[in-house]
Amino acid sequence: MNLPSAKLANSGSLITESPIRDLEAIIRSRTPLIAVETGEEPQIVQMVRQIASRFQLKAYRWTVTEGLQAFDPCDQPLQSVVKSQEVLNYIKTAATHSLFVLLDFHPYLQDAVVVRYLKDIALAYSRHYSTVVLVGSTMPVPPDLQPFTARFRLPLPSAGDVRGIVYDVAADWGAEHGKRDVQTTNKAIDLLVRNLVGLTATDVRRLALKAINDDGVISESEMPEVMRAKYELLGRDGVLSFEYETVQFSEIGGLQRLRNWLTVRKDFFLGDADTRLDPPRGVLLLGVQGCGKSLVAKAAAAIFGVPLLRLDFSVLYNKYYGETERNLRKAFETAEVMSPCVLWMDEIEKGVAVQEDDDGLSRRILGTFLTWMSERKKPVFVVATANDIMRLPPELVRKGRFDEIFFVDLPSPPNRRDILQIHLGKRALEPAQFDLDALVEATNGFSGSEIEQAIVSAMYTAHAQGHGLTQADLIAEIQQTRPLSVVMREKIQETRDWASDRTVPCD
Ligand SMILES: Nc1ncnc2c1ncn2[C@@H]1O[C@H](COP(=O)(O)OP(=O)(O)OP(=O)(O)O)[C@@H](O)[C@H]1O
Ligand SMILES: [Mg+2]
Repeated sequence: MNLPSAKLANSGSLITESPIRDLEAIIRSRTPLIAVETGEEPQIVQMVRQIASRFQLKAYRWTVTEGLQAFDPCDQPLQSVVKSQEVLNYIKTAATHSLFVLLDFHPYLQDAVVVRYLKDIALAYSRHYSTVVLVGSTMPVPPDLQPFTARFRLPLPSAGDVRGIVYDVAADWGAEHGKRDVQTTNKAIDLLVRNLVGLTATDVRRLALKAINDDGVISESEMPEVMRAKYELLGRDGVLSFEYETVQFSEIGGLQRLRNWLTVRKDFFLGDADTRLDPPRGVLLLGVQGCGKSLVAKAAAAIFGVPLLRLDFSVLYNKYYGETERNLRKAFETAEVMSPCVLWMDEIEKGVAVQEDDDGLSRRILGTFLTWMSERKKPVFVVATANDIMRLPPELVRKGRFDEIFFVDLPSPPNRRDILQIHLGKRALEPAQFDLDALVEATNGFSGSEIEQAIVSAMYTAHAQGHGLTQADLIAEIQQTRPLSVVMREKIQETRDWASDRTVPCD
């Protein structure tokens, strides 16, 4: 499919009607001052211009560099009006039935004279009927002006708007490249649009151009890159991190049932299948350390083909002491903007285990989490992992919170064989050169992580002795290892007993 380089008739104008109508309603309700916090300056200016022409009002735009400029040259002030106080004086004394957009005005609001001028203008509204729209990246309205000021928020572009912007960007790109058409497919465009929802118009344009730019192609394979760039644009640090490394299920030994469970739900999660079934919301993985819980979180993102975000509870608690709940809510917001995505909450017991001595903080965190779990609308698939199930609050493991609670146990003999093959293979060793049956036997009670560690240590030993890895090196290393299942036998048994009637095995 080509996206033609000529603009398409239906390519969606940048501004849809509804935000204009909202702004119009505020202006018509005789509000003298309107504060707009946005980075989308051209859009606001354009909207004011349209409203002015619709109601036959005069309209002006002011910046500190260009002074006051009328959109219609007939309305241009006779002498130049440049300084902030000059423009306010002009509005106060000379204007009627006009709209003024003052750009980057926030620094001037710290000046008492400016504040008084604005108040004078507001108080005299019924004489001049002029409205002042203050625009800036932030717009803290001084208390004296608040009674006269309405806030206006520019909504983020809808999916339809995003599509329109992508088409416009493709058309502009084509025009600049000798009328070449952008090469793409319906599927790739749909994915791009879905991935760019949640960003401002400027950022949508920037990322769409980035996707097209190097080769004039929008392809599905570019989407991970787009999502990465999107995450960086959101500019949120700390609690959430973008996990660049995902894992294919082929790198995981066993856990077949869990793999199937995820695979059959993929289309429902992405909204590509029967809408009578609720999309999957998340799983809780409990189990023995080192048996692949973290691997599964990474593999889930790979199966669904969506980004993986990780929520780090230790950062949540330490870094922003006192703002913990707000930061958790912000993390959820970011995850929704990044949706569809997998949100990995590792060692969830560290975040939501209720402690008695923290003034109720952990309980509030748990409440915030449970509320979001039940109310979220966007496709964010939660993979929560926990080692210490005894510390998990009962509310969390109650039926219905997660779609399923899986128990990740020590690997069975066939799974140990798979794990041995995977980890030998990863280190360029030929599994067929080893007696796998004997290794499977010897690693009884080992976790996947311990099997991997045994291979790594045996390789070091063999290297130090100046020969390649042998069966004897492996067996010697395995025999020296005291696996956790021995060291913590009771604890693991206790976990298993607890899990037996509350969870589903992964195999
Ligand atoms: N089933 C498995 N197949 C292949 N490798 C495995 C498996 N289980 C564990 N491993 C290896 O052990 C490493 C540690 O596993 P992982 O971090 O997924 O365990 P975990 O259950 O999250 O442990 P923890 O409770 O300590 O966080 C993995 O990076 C992988 O190399
Ligand atoms: Mg882990």
